[in-house]
Amino acid sequence: MKVTIFGTGYVGLVTGACLAEMGNHVVCVDIDAGKVERLKQGDVPIYEPGLEPMVKRNREEGRLDFTTDAAPAIAHGDILFIAVGTPPDEDGSADLKYVLAVANTIGDNLDRYAIVVNKSTVPVGTADRVRAAVAARLKARDSQVEFDVVSNPEFLKEGDAVEDCLRPDRIIVGASSPRAVALLRKLYAPFNRNHDRMVVMDERSAELTKYAANAMLATKISFMNEIANIAERVGADVELVRQGIGSDPRIGYHFIYPGAGYGGSCFPKDVQALGRTAHANGYDAVLLNAVEAVNDAQKAKLFELISRHFGGDLKGKTVAVWGLAFKPNTDDMREASSRRLMEQLWNAGATVRACDPEAADETRRIYGERADLVLCDRPYEALEGADVLAIVTEWKAFRSPDFARVRGLLKTPAIFDGRNLYDPVAVEDAGLAYYGIGRGRSL
Ligand code: UGA
Repeated sequence: MKVTIFGTGYVGLVTGACLAEMGNHVVCVDIDAGKVERLKQGDVPIYEPGLEPMVKRNREEGRLDFTTDAAPAIAHGDILFIAVGTPPDEDGSADLKYVLAVANTIGDNLDRYAIVVNKSTVPVGTADRVRAAVAARLKARDSQVEFDVVSNPEFLKEGDAVEDCLRPDRIIVGASSPRAVALLRKLYAPFNRNHDRMVVMDERSAELTKYAANAMLATKISFMNEIANIAERVGADVELVRQGIGSDPRIGYHFIYPGAGYGGSCFPKDVQALGRTAHANGYDAVLLNAVEAVNDAQKAKLFELISRHFGGDLKGKTVAVWGLAFKPNTDDMREASSRRLMEQLWNAGATVRACDPEAADETRRIYGERADLVLCDRPYEALEGADVLAIVTEWKAFRSPDFARVRGLLKTPAIFDGRNLYDPVAVEDAGLAYYGIGRGRSL
């Protein structure tokens, strides 16, 4: 099939590459000419396992192209995906200007039936707004061309994006037109083998499904962080509690890991946006607001522990930080907990020596060269001359360090384990102080 995708961010690029991999002819459109040039050379601007070879292969085989030119791309596609960004505006609502700009361009150029598919995470009601925008532009040029608008949210996780896209656990299709549903059923057939993963519903329910999924996952995390804060105060170990409750299949083991807070481009933004949508519709989403508040406090947790350890005076101290990306297997620093920690440390007069397997360049791009930030290629190099070590992201490389070596390098040996990676007893036996998240009983 012929597919056009607007936006070459995580969602657009991964979707484009995976649809091409399944034999479709895909044209990806982006307004960033530099990015399009890089992608044409097979140079993928984000770190995502498996993506670059897939992009290169499908380009070489002529199934994947990149362009800044929207008109021929619209003429190409029977299915036009909108996968552009929806950044939060000042009040936390999702800003639809990029989505609606694409809808306008489609309306200005469409000359035969196509379906317009919203893949970006967009507030409930956006399908209607996209439909109205396309229709208005068609009307302005007296066009009788028919089209359908579908909501088809994406559920991929960064770091597993290609895998998730190739093997989705559900395909949500919000559509009122049987013709559009039939086309999407055909497009997704190769992803939908063995059992039917496609759930068809109306557009608004599909749009809300996306927010509900992310809000539920974020709620699980904030809930566990709250339990961790209680555990700490009552002398319990949240890691034991986690195992104890996860064994109940109604609760499950996933997404109940306490830590230094959730980050990324989705949870913080989507929880906030859903709260704003509720408010705008006359409902005060008490639980969602609390999820956000707990997470915000949790992001300050490591700093509080470190500051308390040093009696509130961090001037001249050096803190080694292992892990900068908002989670492992990505170089994405959006809303990363490391950023809050580093900024608080700098404000308190401390220096940071940091190591991350992928996010160093991104960190440099965000913060520039500064005397109080030293980016190190290797984990142990970050410890040289440092007072203490904080773990912010649970990359595999940080999972089982040589604690004796860590102790030997740190001036005042202490580990602040923001992801509860280590056995507190093993750390203390090696002669280091251990601080975890919600591990009162172990201390
Ligand atoms: C999230 C969802 O998991 C995807 O299903 C969704 O498609 C995506 O948002 C999106 O809307 O596009 P992602 O942001 O890539 O995916 O990251 P997650 O793996 O969900 O992790 C989010 C954050 O939660 C990370 O900072 C992670 O460290 C934290 N986390 C996760 C915890 O603190 N505890 C946990 O138990 C799990």
